Amino acid sequence: MSDVVHIGMLGCGTVGQGVVRILQETAGTIERATGHRLEITKVLVRDLQADRPGVDPALLTADPEEILGDDSIDILIEVMGGVDPTHEWLVRALGHGTSVVTANKQLLARHGPELLAAAEEGGAELRFEASVCAAIPVIKVLRESLLAAEIESVTGIVNGTTNYILSEMRRTGMSYADALTQAQEIGYAEADPTDDVGGADAAAKMAILASIAFHTRVLIDDVPYSGIDDLMSDDVDIAHELGFVMKLLGVARLVDGAVSVRVHPALVPGNHPLAAVAGADNAVLLESSMVRQIMLSGPGAGGTETASAVVSDALSILGSRPGSFLAGALVDAGRPIAPEGSLESAFYLRLEVADQPGVLARVSSVLGDSGVSILTVLQRGEGEGARLVMILHRSPEAQVREATRRLAAMPEVRAEPVVITVVGSGEASS
Ligand SMILES: NC(=O)c1ccc[n+]([C@@H]2O[C@H](COP(=O)([O-])OP(=O)(O)OC[C@H]3O[C@@H](n4cnc5c(N)ncnc54)[C@H](OP(=O)(O)O)[C@@H]3O)[C@@H](O)[C@H]2O)c1
Repeated sequence: MSDVVHIGMLGCGTVGQGVVRILQETAGTIERATGHRLEITKVLVRDLQADRPGVDPALLTADPEEILGDDSIDILIEVMGGVDPTHEWLVRALGHGTSVVTANKQLLARHGPELLAAAEEGGAELRFEASVCAAIPVIKVLRESLLAAEIESVTGIVNGTTNYILSEMRRTGMSYADALTQAQEIGYAEADPTDDVGGADAAAKMAILASIAFHTRVLIDDVPYSGIDDLMSDDVDIAHELGFVMKLLGVARLVDGAVSVRVHPALVPGNHPLAAVAGADNAVLLESSMVRQIMLSGPGAGGTETASAVVSDALSILGSRPGSFLAGALVDAGRPIAPEGSLESAFYLRLEVADQPGVLARVSSVLGDSGVSILTVLQRGEGEGARLVMILHRSPEAQVREATRRLAAMPEVRAEPVVITVVGSGEASS
């Protein structure tokens, strides 16, 4: 690579404009530190006329061939998003030996292995720190600092929108719908929040983290997920009363040598490190018997924060010359994906029941028949009915789901039971 490094960019929106600004503002520092001058050659956009403060209009093009067909480009920065045509364009660039930096979690969670194979074939690098938790350097830590640490679990709050909504529901007692509206008003949630509140965004990020942590190809289809859209503020309040905090968690762990990755609402004990992560922040807790616990936390989104991770990735490419282990493809240990329902955990169970004598005994007996025992019970009158909230002892998830199906069929049970995983207490899964 010559002293001048030619950068092509796909996209110049929130993140892309941040990249342009950072490269301009830190050009001197970068040159002193690396000996290279990073020069943007061309930037692909759709609308050439849109307002992009600080971006030289002469750099813009609406023709992807001007970038993909330019052999002088050393590093391609992809900040346009979307799976198609981005996928095809990046495979082509990598295959021709152009290193790529991307912030695109949905693309990586669907086509990561194929992109890495194209990089290996073309002798190029693929870097994607910004795709998970924006400025928090979790991928670099997993891929480099903890490469040999035999990570056993990765537990993350990897979606800022949902963490903000849950924090506000707890702090103010407001409903889910009101907290979502507030998040949209202040720009923490998109106009269409489906991917965030439904768990798909977190699932994509957890697929990427699990792939790196466990040296195994995990795609978004391997990650069952559920979101926070049908949580009641009562669940958040009762959890608090019981000493827990409600979070949307991504949980990736090794179970008998297989990889299990899921995203779901979960209760964490009030003194757990993840319980203190409030507002739109993200955090990832990495656990291994070698390093015990390492938690990384900070802003998980934002144009400048994400752009900073993109620029750092471009600099890492400069720092890892061909032949260095950082330049190679990721390690592949070929672990299997664990079947759903195989995990053991403690659970929170909420039942709306008829206020009749003996209901609690009948519920306990259904649970007992399925091999599930109760740790704590809270009972409250609710008009004609009663609400039973239980923390269940650690049991295999499949057993708890079976017991819940049987409870739902009881005539005294008036609504679909709510089951939420408890993570990180002595009673929770390992
Ligand atoms: N924003 C964040 O906080 C954040 C955080 C983490 C990761 N990311 C990821 O970063 C990437 C970019 O996000 P963003 O928020 O910067 O998006 P954005 O503001 O919507 O910008 C997208 C840019 O890509 C261009 N573009 C999109 N599709 C194109 C196409 N088919 N051909 C040519 N140009 C195209 C757009 O052109 P026009 O300007 O002409 O419309 C725009 O400049 C996404 O993968 C996102 O998931 C974002």
